[in-house]
Amino acid sequence: MSILLKGGTVVSAHGRRQLDVRLSDGKIIEVGGNLLEEDSRVEDVTGRFLLPGFIDAHTHLELNNGPGTQGTADNFATGSRAAVAKGTTTVIDMATPDQGGTLQSCLATWNRLAENKSSCDYTYHMSVIDWHAGTADEIKAMFNQGITSFKMYLAYDNLRASDSELYEAMLVIKKYGGMLGVHCENGELVNEMIAKLVGEGKLTPYYHPLSRPNALEAEAVTRYLTIAKMAELPVNIVHLSTKEGLEAVRRARQAGQQVFVETCPQYLVLDDHLYDLPDFESAKYVCSPPLRSVADQEALWLGIQHNDIDTVSTDHCSFNFHGQKDLGKADFSKIPNGMPGVETRPELIYTYGVAKGRITLEKMVALLSENIARQFHLFPQKGVIQPGSDADIVVWDPNVQSVISHTTQLQNVDYTPYEGMATIGAPEKVYLRGIKVAENGQVLIEKQGKFVYRHTKNQPD
Ligand code: URP
Ligand code: ZN
Ligand code: ZN
Ligand code: ZN
Repeated sequence: MSILLKGGTVVSAHGRRQLDVRLSDGKIIEVGGNLLEEDSRVEDVTGRFLLPGFIDAHTHLELNNGPGTQGTADNFATGSRAAVAKGTTTVIDMATPDQGGTLQSCLATWNRLAENKSSCDYTYHMSVIDWHAGTADEIKAMFNQGITSFKMYLAYDNLRASDSELYEAMLVIKKYGGMLGVHCENGELVNEMIAKLVGEGKLTPYYHPLSRPNALEAEAVTRYLTIAKMAELPVNIVHLSTKEGLEAVRRARQAGQQVFVETCPQYLVLDDHLYDLPDFESAKYVCSPPLRSVADQEALWLGIQHNDIDTVSTDHCSFNFHGQKDLGKADFSKIPNGMPGVETRPELIYTYGVAKGRITLEKMVALLSENIARQFHLFPQKGVIQPGSDADIVVWDPNVQSVISHTTQLQNVDYTPYEGMATIGAPEKVYLRGIKVAENGQVLIEKQGKFVYRHTKNQPD
């Protein structure tokens, strides 16, 4: 039976109109003014906004979950449930191979982790963490299995690529029309800074941001964009956090380069004062890149307003404060890096962006849904409310007030970096391919998520 959402205001990246929306068989089948009831079940959404389901293009729902490693607190089941409860209907998770593992076996692992467990739709960015004779063919094989985006790292000893590996990978990704995202920090100098600080007995989380200064992000952004220019590949910068990094992007764009930029809620609403808390509390905020200054935060909001920043995703990578973060009690460099956030992004961006007058609701739709869908080969299946698209719809109540707390969150982690923050606006109902999967922040039906198969214009044959 079809469903008719009646009386709401449909919002896209480009505007809003009061329109009714009819859903059937998982798709949006009709959008128009005053649609007739016909044989549909009517849901009254008067006074609500209808937003395309949000897409989180940067999650680590299962990082290091191999044997003998310290895995993330969340897994696909818990992370995707928290996501969909608050309006995120698709995640693009970071599939990360073990050292020496093939991309194919990594894909199999991630499918096993997600299949029949995910409560939102999903796909992956495949991480390329080493380069050998067969890697180009391994990348090609990913395109033939619906994976069109890739991730590489310029930091972390177990993950990072050399400049030449980056260049080689770019040529292959370009050939098939794929998208590359890179973690931009100069890993070698980060190591040097950590060694220096630790050697001087500077061991508390206070020193974490000092080991990863702004300049090391800006250097890596510049190097990455230089290599991408040589390879003639449009590329994505993940979790951009600094004014200097943004300036490097602007220079490249002024010279004609196509660059996509992601930032994350933590860089927009939290700042580096949080590294000065007593009792090891600051460990909760140890992520890379680190939280930055209030000046960086303002530069990022300006970057959003000026279209320098295209997308906001979370980099959700949750570790418990007790039992995981505290492994670094005696040495900040041993604190597992990352913060939870897949659940809180929509409310934070609405509260600190839309409600504060920094951005329009249309801009929020662009940042959290449409731009991501377009960039990662999901559009128009995802990212827009129009006939033919998947019926992924968030019924947004702009007035509801709430307070973020680890005691009420669905994320399976013992803290939230946003504890006690008051929010305004929340998803009232969430539809995933026409199924009402969440209402008032609670999941109604679990594990309805499906793998989203993506294509590019230059698919290999
Ligand atoms: O600290 C972070 N962000 N951990 C997750 C991995 C990454 O760098 O994105
Ligand atoms: Zn390999
Ligand atoms: Zn990263
Ligand atoms: Zn990440």
